[in-house]
Amino acid sequence: AAGPDPAITQMQPWQQYLGAGVDAAPYGVPSPHEAHVVRRNVEWLTADTVSSVNFTPLHELEGIITPNGLCFERHHSGVAEIDPGQHRLMINGLVDNPLVFTMEDLMRFPRENRTYFLECAANTGMEWRGSQLNGVQFTHGMIHNVVYTGVPLRLILEEAGVRTNGSWILPEGADASGMTRSIPMEKALDDCMVATHMNGERLRPEQGYPLRLVVPGWEGNMWVKWLRRIEVGDAPWHHREETSKYTDLLADGQARRFTWEMDAKSVITNPSPQAPILHGPGPTVLTGVAWSGRGTIPRVDVTLDGGINWHRARMSGPSFDKSMHRFYFEFDWDGRPLLLQSRAHDSTGYVQPTKDQLREVRGLNSIYHNNGIQTWAINERGEAENVEVG
Ligand code: MTE
Ligand code: CO
Repeated sequence: AAGPDPAITQMQPWQQYLGAGVDAAPYGVPSPHEAHVVRRNVEWLTADTVSSVNFTPLHELEGIITPNGLCFERHHSGVAEIDPGQHRLMINGLVDNPLVFTMEDLMRFPRENRTYFLECAANTGMEWRGSQLNGVQFTHGMIHNVVYTGVPLRLILEEAGVRTNGSWILPEGADASGMTRSIPMEKALDDCMVATHMNGERLRPEQGYPLRLVVPGWEGNMWVKWLRRIEVGDAPWHHREETSKYTDLLADGQARRFTWEMDAKSVITNPSPQAPILHGPGPTVLTGVAWSGRGTIPRVDVTLDGGINWHRARMSGPSFDKSMHRFYFEFDWDGRPLLLQSRAHDSTGYVQPTKDQLREVRGLNSIYHNNGIQTWAINERGEAENVEVG
């Protein structure tokens, strides 16, 4: 080694004075040295920030939980500024007793804690025709994974008494866009929740404070934020978000509709374009995340050579149904260029497809539901780039 390390031999400034006392930050914030760890948007994607999206910095995160302040945001008309005292949830339509609940009323129902990912159907949508955005935050960051506390929707629907012909629900948001989506009754009664809390605290305004619908494993658009009304009907409503949007135009001019479940997907978060290898050859830790709208992820494979040789990654952390999973692969980097990919297997046996396999079935018109295998090219300097291999 060179000379002695001053970080060891010299007294550091912070050892020489008293630090801030308790209550200096009554609601704690990260170290100023982590100020670069933020959600970011892509300016040219949307005309303004009110109907737009920003992205979770996946390359800066570990484990499986997304911190509340880093959960990506997708708003059609900005963040509704709701006074919870004036907020109501109404149940109407094909029910025996139309009901209106205050927030206090909802807190008197039995509640549950469950961890789920929310992925926007448009996540990775900009990559359909080829690699485009240079960063896992931008290619895959329309996802977050959160512990929700909420009331099973089934209990609320039972209270209202769904009529025998009530086979669909229409949740509606209290934001200016008044967003609505049709959801089949089987899903509503199965595992949907009316959530009040995320990761132990009240929902953040960006995530639908004070009430959001949780639709486990299904596309993010259905998770109506600022939830104010649920109508029960006997058919889907065919509103904007399930006709002109969130449908997949195929090559033959037909469109896939009601593609609710999110297919299994994975991505390497480190190394990646925003997180190059800085330490040179030698022991290297590769990590990433995987998820499936149909269950758990028992297995992820990783390749360093663009798919010639596959290795089984090490799963670490809790494995919950329809939740994010964390994988690692430690290897000795010889300093030569790499083509990194990960491939998820879910608990139904489904294997994540290549992008070409996906295009064979779905053509090139799509935006939504791109769960193809992502490739990062690493050069001799450890820099990473978003590429595609044949
Ligand atoms: N709910 C309302 N009321 N308004 C919206 O604009 N956006 C939807 C959904 N729910 C939206 C909404 C979309 S497209 C997605 S992907 C998710 O919320 C995003 O949730 P998030 O902002 O917590 O990431
Ligand atoms: Co969305």
